[in-house]
Amino acid sequence: MLDFKNIIANKLKEVTKIDTIEKYIEVPTNSEMGDYSLPCFKLAKEMKKAPQTIALEIKEKLKISENFFSKIEVVNGYLNFFVNNTKIAETVLNEINEKKEKYGSSTIGNGKNIVIDYSSPNIAKPFHIGHLRTTLIGNSLYRIYQYLGYHTIGVNHLGDYGTQFGKMIEAYKMWGNEYNLSEDPINKMVDMYVRINDLCKKDESVLERCRENFRLLENGDEYCTSLWNKFKDLSMVEFNKIYDVLDVKFDSYNGEAFYADKTDEVIDILTKKGKLTESQGAKVVDLEDVGISTPCIIQKANGSTIYATRDLAAIMYRARTYDFYKCLYVVAYEQNLHFKQIFEVAKYLVDEKYVKGLEHVAFGMVSLPSGRMSTRLGNVVKIEDLLNETIEKAKEIIEEKNPELEDKENIAKKIGIGAIIFNTLSTSNIKDQIFDWKTALNFNGETGPYLQYMYVRTNSILEKVGGVPDFSEVDVSKLLDNASINLIKAIYSFGTTVEQAADKNEPYIISRYLINLAQLFSNFYNENKIIGEDEETQKARVYLTYCVNIVLKTGASLLGMQMPNKM
Ligand code: ARG
Repeated sequence: MLDFKNIIANKLKEVTKIDTIEKYIEVPTNSEMGDYSLPCFKLAKEMKKAPQTIALEIKEKLKISENFFSKIEVVNGYLNFFVNNTKIAETVLNEINEKKEKYGSSTIGNGKNIVIDYSSPNIAKPFHIGHLRTTLIGNSLYRIYQYLGYHTIGVNHLGDYGTQFGKMIEAYKMWGNEYNLSEDPINKMVDMYVRINDLCKKDESVLERCRENFRLLENGDEYCTSLWNKFKDLSMVEFNKIYDVLDVKFDSYNGEAFYADKTDEVIDILTKKGKLTESQGAKVVDLEDVGISTPCIIQKANGSTIYATRDLAAIMYRARTYDFYKCLYVVAYEQNLHFKQIFEVAKYLVDEKYVKGLEHVAFGMVSLPSGRMSTRLGNVVKIEDLLNETIEKAKEIIEEKNPELEDKENIAKKIGIGAIIFNTLSTSNIKDQIFDWKTALNFNGETGPYLQYMYVRTNSILEKVGGVPDFSEVDVSKLLDNASINLIKAIYSFGTTVEQAADKNEPYIISRYLINLAQLFSNFYNENKIIGEDEETQKARVYLTYCVNIVLKTGASLLGMQMPNKM
């Protein structure tokens, strides 16, 4: 696609002889300042001249065809570029016609592998609302990177290992017959765990038996392993229900247990490199030197490894197996220290290029507003209930707004789930959130259902005129009014928006973009009669509507959201 920024950059490079000039080019927030702008005060030092002088001199020397830019202006030391509206309209429509559903995709990631570690709940523990957030952010990043041509590997690093399983096994041995695990298994397992923990505190001999169970499990004892498998299977059934509703998939479920037999190598290397020191019987890597005051524990006094050790083994494994360009960890910011520590220690274990690719995509807390939902469901909200309840709510709304609609079940699901996904991805990762389905389901707010509604509107326009007009009959000169051009410019920037989202690992950049696009479409629709003008104008406007249709749908799919055809 014609890249206006690139055209400017090349010309500027030629004129100024500054190779890095591209990074100074901005997109002004106020469109009166043009579509692109070069703030010349950033060059003042280097060129030893006043910004205004620089701007004027550059303008003088620039010879950019009017074909591309209708106007180049100097204002207060800024050099402002106004793209030629006809050219940008042609570019966008052409590109959509060529690429259709692939519009905005790219090949920049070709040949590069990105591991994304997300969701990663703990076996026999609830899948809580924080897990929902990592699941949705990770799933979206997965789709975004894939769209940019990267080869993505989604890993669910299950919390399926640790001494707590010794306790669970003991609890099962003692009280297994009291609990019917086929019903609400996770809560029952949590109950068992709480109970055995209490008992361990009172009775040292029980604790000793739990430890023995864990040793047996580590050594592959058949009975202990079968129980561990049972806990895991029961948990996975519950987790998979959530993944199914959300349409989230993984390429690997290698969790902590997978690395249990791979931690020796970590310890060996660190020992050989002389990085391990003793601290109260435990083996640790001291990180004081790099400004981290808490050492990274590698092996506890009793000889067992910990979460961090297994994560280190996982880094080695992922480097070897996936030769990753990046390895992202979508995990709550509570684990900041953990990731700082292991990324430091990783320097002793894998090549520098891999260490550079390690990135903690930290996100904030999610809470539920107090009220009906949180009280009715108890303290630990079952995510499955949250999802179902939101779908139910969506159904009620449809029932009220459009009782004649066919296939309500399916549509309610898309709306309810879409509301949750969009709500979760509508703020930057690090911000804390309150989940409130009333806000999430507001059709007039900046929500998933609002986007879906706008999409449905584009659909019904296309349906009314009997489909997408033939591209060869579209006359872009009919699309030069402000409302149309603003919409076209937004569509033009879709690809760079997706790239930015990947660059910052922030799906919300796409959510914001889509809301803006929908609002611009609504404006276009209010300002212009799409159907009913002369035939030429109608064709052009309907085609632009089709462009919006494509971008809304594609953008939503990058968030992991599905669009209903009707609602
Ligand atoms: N199981 C952990 C939790 O629920 C998250 C694991 C994240 N991934 C990792 N490689 N440490 O908090």
